[in-house]
Amino acid sequence: MSTGPKDALARAQQRGRHGRQQEDGVLVIRTIAMPADTNPAGDIFGGWLMSQMDLAAGNMAGRVSQGRGATVAVEAMQFLRPVKVGDEVTLYATLRHIGRTSMRIHVDVWARPRFELAAEKVTDADFVFVALDDDGKPREIPQT
Ligand SMILES: CC(C)(COP(=O)(O)OP(=O)(O)OC[C@H]1O[C@@H](n2cnc3c(N)ncnc32)[C@H](O)[C@@H]1OP(=O)(O)O)[C@@H](O)C(=O)NCCC(=O)NCCS
Repeated sequence: MSTGPKDALARAQQRGRHGRQQEDGVLVIRTIAMPADTNPAGDIFGGWLMSQMDLAAGNMAGRVSQGRGATVAVEAMQFLRPVKVGDEVTLYATLRHIGRTSMRIHVDVWARPRFELAAEKVTDADFVFVALDDDGKPREIPQT
């Protein structure tokens, strides 16, 4: 059975249902927003969410490129609604494109209030990762 980038792309297109809206991509991270992650207004700090998204995209990039990599760009990020302390935060990654050395990975973030059943989408963005060699230079993404 092949495990190349095309298979990774196919796997990444798996769909799951959670709450009343459709969520796309592979579930990569599920965590709970904690008081330490808040901004001065008491809502969850956008920087914390961005770091979770970078971790989620990096997880998929490592799987696809079978080695180390780095974020080279973050595009089209939007924050749709705030995340509150205690929310269950779930990150889904979808592989959108594989280049010679780079991968474009879309990350969707959903939040479910602690005592409710349905999750709502709170943010999404495209992350571009570059596969790196031991010297920190771009390396070709392996075909197998
Ligand atoms: C990642 C890095 C090694 C790439 O070096 P580079 O000289 O830009 O490499 P290249 O020009 O050969 O580009 C490599 C790939 O990235 C893509 N790329 C580079 N900059 C990009 C950008 N701003 N947006 C989208 N793709 C980009 C190129 O198109 C190329 O893709 P391909 O091989 O699939 O066609 C270098 O930019 C770097 O070290 N950046 C810092 C990364 C980092 O530290 N990230 C963490 C931030 S805290």
